[in-house]
Amino acid sequence: MKSNQYQAILDAIEKMGISKADITRKHTSAFDEFHVRGRAVSEELFSNIELNKESLVLDLGCGLGGTCRMIADKYDCMIHGIDYSDQHIETANSLSNLVGLGKQTCFKQGDATKIPYPTKQFDLVITQHVQMCIADKAKFYSEVKRVLKKGGLFIYYDVFKKNDDSLNYPLPWVDDEINNHLISSDQLKEQLHSLGFKKISSQDQTQKGIDFLNSFLAKAEDKPAILTGQKILMGDNALDKITNLYQALKSGIVGLESGVFEL
Ligand SMILES: C[S@@+](CC[C@H](N)C(=O)[O-])C[C@H]1O[C@@H](n2cnc3c(N)ncnc32)[C@H](O)[C@@H]1O
Repeated sequence: MKSNQYQAILDAIEKMGISKADITRKHTSAFDEFHVRGRAVSEELFSNIELNKESLVLDLGCGLGGTCRMIADKYDCMIHGIDYSDQHIETANSLSNLVGLGKQTCFKQGDATKIPYPTKQFDLVITQHVQMCIADKAKFYSEVKRVLKKGGLFIYYDVFKKNDDSLNYPLPWVDDEINNHLISSDQLKEQLHSLGFKKISSQDQTQKGIDFLNSFLAKAEDKPAILTGQKILMGDNALDKITNLYQALKSGIVGLESGVFEL
């Protein structure tokens, strides 16, 4: 039996007048990217990366696997994704099979602080909006290093703490303060440098995120149906979660940043 999450996505796409047989990655991508600016930012982040058919990629905390399908489709390569959530993994595999990318993606349940893959396996490791959920950063980033080949790339896109002001909860990745493990982007860079990574680039994504959320929240007021995908991913309080993140970004408590590091 397929999960409720997968069925809910199919139902939402079918409501848009697209029958199951006609669903492509373009339709699923409105529902399967669980980070600020969704598909647009993934396309930007991975547009200049040199990958080919032989490349092996790993997405840590892959969620429903939307970014993995985008990369697999674009580069015709094999991409693995792990996520803590069984339900997300089941949905990710079902969506890949649905859009004909089942042979190029492999999703399995796993913990990003104990990656279930051998050492020096991957050309590229990516992670988007996951480290904020992980308390043991040292273990997380040393695992990234362990599974990367020498010369491999690590690409992140995350929320970072900019000051110690208190946040309103729930947030999209966490319901309460105790499970929120934000660090500053300087702390991330220190950690990566200490592991031997070399910075290639980093980009402040905060303003683009604020602009996106501003227009998204305005649209949601007029047309609450545009929250369907977010509710499937985050639950019925998705609007509160997104509003709290928007306020935190606007008031400068947190920021968004992406970056590329080489091992
Ligand atoms: C905000 S979602 C982002 C999903 C995906 N990266 C994306 O951008 O669409 C965070 C994801 O991290 C996963 N996660 C949290 N802690 C994890 C861990 N220790 N290991 C693996 N996955 C984890 C959650 O289950 C969730 O799917």
